[in-house]
Amino acid sequence: MPRSKPKPPKPVDATDADDTKFAGAGEIFLKCCDCLDGMAELPPSSVDVIVTSPPYNLGIAYSRYADNLPRAEYLDWTVRWIRAARRVLKPDGSLFLNIGASPTDPYLPHEVILAVRELLMLQNTLHWIKSITVHDASGEPLSAGHFKPINSPRFITDCHEFVFHLTHQADVKVNRRAVGVPYTHKSNIGRWKHTGGEDLRCRGNNWFIPYETISSRDRERPHPATFPSRLAEHCIRLHGSPPGKTTVLDPFVGIGNAALGALAVGVKRFIGFDIDPSYLTTAAERLPVTAICDLSKCPPGKPRAPKKRGRPPGRNSPTKKSS
Ligand SMILES: C[S@@+](CC[C@H](N)C(=O)[O-])C[C@H]1O[C@@H](n2cnc3c(N)ncnc32)[C@H](O)[C@@H]1O
Repeated sequence: MPRSKPKPPKPVDATDADDTKFAGAGEIFLKCCDCLDGMAELPPSSVDVIVTSPPYNLGIAYSRYADNLPRAEYLDWTVRWIRAARRVLKPDGSLFLNIGASPTDPYLPHEVILAVRELLMLQNTLHWIKSITVHDASGEPLSAGHFKPINSPRFITDCHEFVFHLTHQADVKVNRRAVGVPYTHKSNIGRWKHTGGEDLRCRGNNWFIPYETISSRDRERPHPATFPSRLAEHCIRLHGSPPGKTTVLDPFVGIGNAALGALAVGVKRFIGFDIDPSYLTTAAERLPVTAICDLSKCPPGKPRAPKKRGRPPGRNSPTKKSS
């Protein structure tokens, strides 16, 4: 759907920024900073939902971030930012952590989740499916979504990433039907008492959410590793708190897909951090509302990660359909 002309970001100077350390009600607040510093400025237990996707340490060519730390250092850093996130997460809050692997580094998401198990509990494991083939009643294959084909005698194309749903005690009530789907066999509506007569069932933990088809990466998705805004939308809906009273945080906001998802659900208060001013500016431009965008304290960029030779493709979809 064509977007209306984006509103320019509302700039703030350093003085204003101090007054708006974190978003008030009805505000979308983007700040250029290390998320550890950003989260340290937030009050404890102040965020309902964190939806985020950190760098995966797979050598992705971010413009300001070197995505190739030694593994132990990366896991240590992961523990530090998850600890900071735990501090700001309300007791009944949800942290949705999107992370994928690469064929040559398949253990990464599992190592990450094990490294943080003392901090937050794994309440649900969701699978973000980017591309899938199902068969219709006649057995005809039906393919949907996008993928980057891997030409390899060893590896099959990876069409999936994890979304780990982390909570303090694994006891947060979620709204399964907020992302529910209708029953295929309508007789189930009457058969199961828990339906309450509604034609809506739990979707399950395989979420098929393809990237939108784009024609120009530079213009429409100027970032090497995004998730679709609908992924964030689903997570916030599943968490289930009333949108108008929900504060959403993305500590690695990139070009703002979590903010777009939050706005689509009706969330009024969103906070996003990124170390890269160009990503944040793009994020602010993509939003249908005016965001406060504080670029006054950008940290110096690290050297770009060198491109790995022969590495299987990164996580983003190609610009044209490949399925
Ligand atoms: C996987 S991307 C997130 C993309 C985002 N989900 C989107 O759809 O646009 C990770 C982001 O983390 C940012 N980043 C890396 N280190 C950071 C840090 N210490 N604090 C804040 N942002 C950081 C990178 O600049 C990058 O934009």
